[in-house]
Amino acid sequence: MPLNRLLRPFLLCFITFLANAARLRDEMVPLGQEGTPPSFSVSFSSAWQILGPFQAGSREAPWGADPLEFFGGFRSLQCDKEARFRSSLGIDGTVGWSLLEGETVNANAFGSSVSLPVNFENPGLPLQGVYGWAARQYQAWARGQFSIDTEQDLPLIVYSDSILEFWIDGVHYFGGDFYSFRKAPPVIRLGPGAHTVDVRLVYDVRAMGGGDAPFIIAIELASGSLEVASQGIVMADVVDGSLASSLASVTVRNNKAQDLEILSVEPSLNDSTTTVTLKSSVVVAAGQTRPILFDVKLSDTTTPSISVRIKYRQVSPASFPSFLEVSQTLTHRSIYEPHKITYLHPGSILSYAMLRPPSKKAVQDSSENEKFPILLAFHGAGVEAENDLVAHALDRTSDIKAWVLFPTGVTTWSGDDWHNWGFADVEVAVNYVPKWIEAVGWQGPAADLQRWLVAGHSNGGQGAWYALTHRPSKIIAAAPLSGYSSIQNYVPYLLWQPMDPQRSAIRDGALNSYRHELLLENCKGIPILQQHGALDDNVPTYHSRLLSQLLLQANGTSRYYELPDKGHWFDGIMATPQLLDFYNQQIGKIPGDQELQSFSLVVGSPADTGSKGGLRVTQLETPGQYGRVDVVFDEVTAKYRVTTSNVLSLEVDDQRHSSGLSSITLDGQDLNKLDGTVLHQEDKMVLWRNTNGQWKVSQSSLLRWLILALRTRFHPCVRASKSCRHISILSLNIPVKPSKSSRNSKKVGNKQPSSLLRSGRQLGAMDAILRTRGHFTIQYQHSEASGIALQISRNLYQYFYADSAVVEAKTQADHTPGNVITTSIGGDVHANSHPLFPIKLSSSGLSIQEAGGRTREYGGEGGLSAIFLRPLPDERLELVVWGVNRESLAIAARLVPMLTGVGQPDFVVMRRDCLWKGVEGAVAMGFFDHEWNVTKTAVLR
Ligand SMILES: *[C@@H]1O[C@H](CO)[C@@H](O)[C@H](O)[C@H]1NC(C)=O
Ligand SMILES: *[C@@H]1O[C@H](CO)[C@@H](O)[C@H](O)[C@H]1NC(C)=O
Ligand SMILES: *[C@@H]1O[C@H](CO)[C@@H](O)[C@H](O)[C@H]1NC(C)=O
Repeated sequence: MPLNRLLRPFLLCFITFLANAARLRDEMVPLGQEGTPPSFSVSFSSAWQILGPFQAGSREAPWGADPLEFFGGFRSLQCDKEARFRSSLGIDGTVGWSLLEGETVNANAFGSSVSLPVNFENPGLPLQGVYGWAARQYQAWARGQFSIDTEQDLPLIVYSDSILEFWIDGVHYFGGDFYSFRKAPPVIRLGPGAHTVDVRLVYDVRAMGGGDAPFIIAIELASGSLEVASQGIVMADVVDGSLASSLASVTVRNNKAQDLEILSVEPSLNDSTTTVTLKSSVVVAAGQTRPILFDVKLSDTTTPSISVRIKYRQVSPASFPSFLEVSQTLTHRSIYEPHKITYLHPGSILSYAMLRPPSKKAVQDSSENEKFPILLAFHGAGVEAENDLVAHALDRTSDIKAWVLFPTGVTTWSGDDWHNWGFADVEVAVNYVPKWIEAVGWQGPAADLQRWLVAGHSNGGQGAWYALTHRPSKIIAAAPLSGYSSIQNYVPYLLWQPMDPQRSAIRDGALNSYRHELLLENCKGIPILQQHGALDDNVPTYHSRLLSQLLLQANGTSRYYELPDKGHWFDGIMATPQLLDFYNQQIGKIPGDQELQSFSLVVGSPADTGSKGGLRVTQLETPGQYGRVDVVFDEVTAKYRVTTSNVLSLEVDDQRHSSGLSSITLDGQDLNKLDGTVLHQEDKMVLWRNTNGQWKVSQSSLLRWLILALRTRFHPCVRASKSCRHISILSLNIPVKPSKSSRNSKKVGNKQPSSLLRSGRQLGAMDAILRTRGHFTIQYQHSEASGIALQISRNLYQYFYADSAVVEAKTQADHTPGNVITTSIGGDVHANSHPLFPIKLSSSGLSIQEAGGRTREYGGEGGLSAIFLRPLPDERLELVVWGVNRESLAIAARLVPMLTGVGQPDFVVMRRDCLWKGVEGAVAMGFFDHEWNVTKTAVLR
């Protein structure tokens, strides 16, 4: 959560940002080429009608769980001083309407904003003693008016700080701007007169820091055309005469009602020293916000700033090109200072990190081929990594023999709290270091990308735990500071609407990979220093104390320092004396997982969990439940005894074991005698467990081996290499898959398309959709679904800076490398490439084939809607968002991954009553297994 103490500098930043934005806007309007700015003013009514408070669970709101929906929704209610509504937070069990004075915080020629200083005489307060922070949270609704003084319909943008959803003149907007980023506001078109706005107020302790919630609605005039939506150009720093990386980006918003096409990016006419190249042409849909990526080359790196112009035109009917100019002041730094590098995130967006190469002193007596490890430092929530508070937090380690890297995790909230989207960013930042070395012609020691020392504060402390539990074989040591153990442990999920425990198990199962308290065994062998301020009122010391106790029980190695008189943050928190000692002691070491005589690997999702001791889990038997591998070295037999539970497939890297595969028994089977097959493998081998529990070598591993054998043109066993061990293949008759599937064996025999098996990036719960390679494609099958497609695009950009193309789905063919989100109404969703996919949609409802083969039919009544993952070729995914009508489509769309902790499994089927019952209103929910079958653990009503 944002840190009260930290907030002040950010407020300052924010004010500067507003000032910059205002300046930009001044420049913008004339550039809109739509004539002179129209006469315009907007003003908010000061009186707001409030109804609430009602109970709200942590991160429950995307599921609905709004008690007023029982009465048809707040929008259908009129203010009535006499009316009482039952509420578990109300005195006498009821609440009613009240009036609130909205504070106009900013009003000028371009717009106006109102802040709602909601302050219920906290009825939750007496409950807090019993339910803690969970009882501080609430939800309520507010209704106000604004009037627009103008002559014509105008494009306006709506900011909604700390707000998740609102209605304007009866039109629903979900997603809002919970963290007050102001990155992708909706563009709406309104005419003169009075307009009504209904705002759902959801008070979330974690997002709002336990202080007053600054709920703000701001309405501003937008230019009539393409507008710059970011602060200038995001680009790298110039270090000692080199641009640290060439990738740059400008975010634009299309305020028009027609799609616009970006044709090129070129240097402005007055800029002769810059060369720019657009990465690929981009269509910005009407109302959409999209980043434009381009490469920059500077022929004169002393230039103080660059200016580019974006050439664009309307797609249809094609118009003459227009230009949008953007300039950016360059930051010049010494190469030894932390500086900004930019690179491509797997989602095809620009991300940046702050990099500090080893100092002159650190490299002085390094040997020629020495590689320095990476010291990673993860920032807290709401903090920008380029802020000195972050980028200079490790100045006291100036001569450490390491590359110091401050990743962003893409956004100030690290995308999804350093998990899926955010951690992918960490890994590309690390992998960018060699490219940086090339770009700037660095002569010093290279980087060892496989050795990390990880530190992090607050949300970043939690990120450090994530790294420890998910990349244990890369980590030489770690220092999680003032971090929390899991979002459920932070602000407990006590006050969600009641639900069947099978449902909460599914919700929690979707979050398994993020519960560090259950994954600590993975840290065994890694030195850990924990530190927490005793007076921390933001992340309670409870988290560090608990994890330190559990680490001991997991035979892990940690020292825990609880600092008296210190709070959540203080200057120098990342470099206290014990931390400096720790960094210096550990930095020269290597990851300890190869030395361990006994260890375990616990896996929530194989898609995001790396190896430990040469073993990696690649499939779980029952997704949504933990899998584990326990390894013990048996002195008597001199073998590693590996036992597994809930593991369906496993990758073994035999190079990690000095005596090779023959030294391993897996669930009692000798690894070198599997299935009568004695196998040589140069690097890694994938093993599958078949239905009777026997382990087999997967065909793909065999295939690789065969290719290798053919390539070397003689049987590898005659080669006298150290990795060549007694090889012969006795049987090639190994199934492609672990289990005999009758599914399509008739049709395609053994050559089953890989897309029928769920693997790699497709694994995990619904947030697996974030593991895209390339931008998202959001397709709508019906023009009625286009508004929801645009809303999803907005939310992806707002919460993750994720890029998406919004397109009308005309054909099923799609050739983009990224994942696809399909929004659809009625029966018009195209069929999937998987012929026997268990969920089938029709215009009148849907059917689900449950485990065991029975088919359940769900009729369209009660506003049926569904959201689920489906396979696409090449490990890609499609997220289908579907409803029998437009209203129910909007209900499903609430669950498109956006906030952490919501707990969406692989599929959810809902009816309208989810809107007040929350999870309990889902008629079906659960996970898909490795064959995309519904697991036995699913709930189907
Ligand atoms: C080019 O002109 C623009 C607009 O007048 C100005 O903002 C920018 O600083 C100029 N750039 C250079 C490199 O002179
Ligand atoms: C911890 O170590 C003890 C003693 O070696 C052993 O008996 C126990 O199983 C280990 N526990 C875990 C969780 O590894
Ligand atoms: C998956 O479902 C199909 C039928 O739809 C069935 O033939 C197959 O055996 C199932 N696979 C597993 C692993 O249960």
